[in-house]
Amino acid sequence: MIRIAIDGPAGAGKSTMAKLLAKELNIDYIDTGAMYRAIALKLLRSGTDYEDAEALRAVLDSTDVDYYGGSVYLDGECVDGFIRTPEVSEVASASSAKLDVREKLVALQKAMGQKRSLVMDGRDIGTNVLTDAEYKFYLDASVGVRARRRALEMEAKGQTVDIAEVEADIASRDWRDMHREHNPLKQAEDAVYVDTSDLSIPEVIDVLKSYIH
Ligand code: DC
Repeated sequence: MIRIAIDGPAGAGKSTMAKLLAKELNIDYIDTGAMYRAIALKLLRSGTDYEDAEALRAVLDSTDVDYYGGSVYLDGECVDGFIRTPEVSEVASASSAKLDVREKLVALQKAMGQKRSLVMDGRDIGTNVLTDAEYKFYLDASVGVRARRRALEMEAKGQTVDIAEVEADIASRDWRDMHREHNPLKQAEDAVYVDTSDLSIPEVIDVLKSYIH
């Protein structure tokens, strides 16, 4: 069994690389960010204030999140098409700092990692979810490069983009993800650090593969 953990800030290329790597190795890919986004979508749809601990608990107790076949499911509904908006990004970053949210998803993700080979990407995979993963990578890039990548993705989807706003959103999300109390984003001591700022997608894949035997 091989488990590959890929962590890093928003826009560092984690999902692109994790997806390609999983395909090449013919193993599953789990996008844990999509799971946090699914919970955020539920909070938004139900108008729940995640700062209200009791209300948050009630929503979590009655919510089912799953990830398989490259898609995320919220209470049985595939929600891939609804989770990539700035509003969901914001609520996902804020609500993922709540211990109840993390405990629910981390337990699910740990269970996934016990059953099969996979590539899992997120913020706390190498440090918390798959601490015994065979391979760990921390992907990074300058905030300017990450904002440009995110802006291109959004433009490709027909969204109007203000690059300065995208950069400010990314910087504030990074800060919150790195400074939260529970399982903050940080490089695992045994993770390989890869700066993707000046590398193409195939070049990053080559770097990652050079470590995998
Ligand atoms: O990777 P992403 O941008 O789709 O993740 C959305 C948010 O979910 C991110 O701002 C922080 C949170 N997240 C987390 O706390 N832990 C993870 N393993 C993955 C994502």
